[in-house]
Amino acid sequence: MIALTIPDAAEMEALGARLAPLLRAGDLVLLNGELGAGKTTLTRGLGAALGARGAVTSPTFVLAREHPTASGVPLVHVDAYRLATGRELDDLDLDYEHGIVVVEWGAGKLDGVSDSWLSVDIERPLGSSAGADAAALADPEELELDEPRQVTITGHGPRGTELEALLAAAE
Ligand SMILES: Nc1ncnc2c1ncn2[C@@H]1O[C@H](COP(=O)(O)OP(=O)(O)OP(=O)(O)O)[C@@H](O)[C@H]1O
Ligand SMILES: [Mg+2]
Repeated sequence: MIALTIPDAAEMEALGARLAPLLRAGDLVLLNGELGAGKTTLTRGLGAALGARGAVTSPTFVLAREHPTASGVPLVHVDAYRLATGRELDDLDLDYEHGIVVVEWGAGKLDGVSDSWLSVDIERPLGSSAGADAAALADPEELELDEPRQVTITGHGPRGTELEALLAAAE
């Protein structure tokens, strides 16, 4: 397990950029964390470092978006927030073999998809009080204020374990 404190959004993008050169086709990254944790921010940094075409965003009605990248291996960015079950995610028929697949809100919905993945868990230690969250919901700009995140990265399965070691060595 790798534990990091990420002070601001720019550093979260930088973490994505550090991960980018380690990833190859078939790799799966699960991003976990509450609304506004920074999952898409990390993916944006990852996409930029891969030379991904098209904006990395969290559009309301798009569940998965495939971005061509400089290397030819597409970045597949999935937002499973609106999917209740793994079966619905299955129905998207994503190509897990040929892309670098990054999934937001995928915990518990990806059973059997791969024997290996990298979990990135993002927590907002200071903003996690109910009061701060309510303020953020009332005023979305509140979310954009830089504040530290606790990030823990854990590899699962053979390739996930390898990725975690590669990232630790690259730190
Ligand atoms: N340390 C930090 N790391 C990442 N983002 C941060 C940090 N501090 C502040 N932010 C802000 O928090 C917000 C994170 O939004 P982002 O869309 O990345 O979250 P998300 O986890 O993808 O949320 P959702 O579950 O709604 O998709 C951004 O506005 C970003 O600028
Ligand atoms: Mg998001």
